[in-house]
Amino acid sequence: MIKEFESYSLLPHNTFGLDVKAERYIDFSSREELLSLLGKLKGKRVLVIGGGSNLLFAGDFGGVVLHSSIGGIEVINEDNESVHLRVGSGVNWDKFVEYTVSRGWQGLENLSLIPGEVGASAVQNVGAYGVEAGELIEKVETVSLIDGSLRNFYHDDCRFSYRNSVFKEAERGKYVITNVVFRLNKRGVFNLGYGNLKERVVALGGATLENVRRAVCEIRRAKLPDPAEIGSAGSFFMNPVVDEDVATTLLKAYPYMPHYDFDGRVKLSAGWLIEQCDWKSTPYPTVGVYEHQALVVINRGGATASDILEFATAVRQSVKERFGVELKMEVNIIE
Ligand code: EPU
Repeated sequence: MIKEFESYSLLPHNTFGLDVKAERYIDFSSREELLSLLGKLKGKRVLVIGGGSNLLFAGDFGGVVLHSSIGGIEVINEDNESVHLRVGSGVNWDKFVEYTVSRGWQGLENLSLIPGEVGASAVQNVGAYGVEAGELIEKVETVSLIDGSLRNFYHDDCRFSYRNSVFKEAERGKYVITNVVFRLNKRGVFNLGYGNLKERVVALGGATLENVRRAVCEIRRAKLPDPAEIGSAGSFFMNPVVDEDVATTLLKAYPYMPHYDFDGRVKLSAGWLIEQCDWKSTPYPTVGVYEHQALVVINRGGATASDILEFATAVRQSVKERFGVELKMEVNIIE
């Protein structure tokens, strides 16, 4: 059923907890419903949102906010090795992960407890603990907002990279994702190489899908704020990737700086860089970084978008001044 509202509060639709309004908000539950809406979207500014867990509204949105409630998890192909699942873009991400783990299908367990919905997982190429959603995505089914045509983006068309895809770059804002097809494994190998994940899994009794999911949930709960309790959008910044010579110079000055190989370049930890600039102990009145993870900017209560942006700018400047490293925002700022 299509649900349509005017002058609609986006408070329940952004995990930062900002009380901004959309001129119009439309929720649809099927591809047919979406197609029937396209006429009235013509010429309007349209923003497609998922769970609102990676957005920062700079103010009221003068246009149509469109949300998919397309549900369903359907097995479309299965053999001894793998299973192909076609999932509605409006399905809650963690409910989907929980379902795959309960069925014994391997692949998404490291991505447990990430807030948001299935459609956005493809846009954002969500990632955690050494796995990115894009690795498991075979196909993204979309509807063009321009002419209503149906277009499938196969894995390579999506151009997945660290927290990025074609849907954030060349095709930004042009398509609405209706379904995503994932290929999961029946005899997959667990990915336990990140941090202390393996230790945690062993402590829980050994490597099973359920234990990996439990361990990931425990680590996330310890490090990241619960969006239902503290407003944030998860990682506010991306981890910066720098050339090897830059990393070598920094490591001479800061030998304990966390760093990771990244396709011939070096990925640094934004959380570490921010913590070194003392932001854990110098919050603003309404904004700060999370005590257990400095990469997460939190709404300490009553923050406005400009408070958050002013704070983020100060954080970026301090990291640039001290380390010469530019932090890019991971959060999508909606002007
Ligand atoms: N660190 C600090 N201080 C901090 C935070 C981190 O010193 O306040 C250090 C840690 O000790 C560790 C390193 O930085 O040595 C990396 O930290 P962590 O393992 O927590 O991961 P991250 O690189 O900060 C990324 C993702 C997270 C994801 C984790 C686990 C990005 C932007 N963030 O964080 O994703 O959960 O890895 O894979 O890549 C998200 O996107 O919203 C998100 C939470």
